[in-house]
Amino acid sequence: MSQRTLVLLKPDAVRRGLIGEIVGRVERKAGWTITALELRTLDAETLRTHYAEHVGRPFYEPLLEFMASGPSVALVVEGERVVEGMRALAGPTDPIAAPPGSIRGDFGTVVRENLIHASDSPESAERELKIFFPGLA
Ligand code: RTP
Ligand code: MG
Repeated sequence: MSQRTLVLLKPDAVRRGLIGEIVGRVERKAGWTITALELRTLDAETLRTHYAEHVGRPFYEPLLEFMASGPSVALVVEGERVVEGMRALAGPTDPIAAPPGSIRGDFGTVVRENLIHASDSPESAERELKIFFPGLA
């Protein structure tokens, strides 16, 4: 069941010099392929579209500010069950609750600065891929 998903290395991951560490974990998953990768500071419009499901939540505005605070890395990853698999590699939203061995569990302590985004379903992935990589088929 080959799929594709959108991954973002958030500004905290880039600032902390963790691009190589995190991309390396993705590369080492057997059979998964990185098919696009770009370093980019995300603009407000992109972020509002991406995080539309969270409009009105107390963390929404601080989240947008954080996500625009420096460059992120956007990736497209393709492979076997990659949507579910990237969520597992990232770990739960709260890095303190995330198990050691997951990206958030190994490197994070606070919920907002949790290093990585990965699409939460195949439908979300297709929606988000259009936002970040509109040129993809
Ligand atoms: P993501 O969308 O970034 O992959 O993360 P997620 O599905 O695990 O979490 P979600 O509920 O979609 O929340 C999106 C991002 O908002 C920040 N957040 N802050 N209570 C808070 O302060 C709070 N809750 C969520 C996190 O950066 C989270 O990843
Ligand atoms: Mg989410």
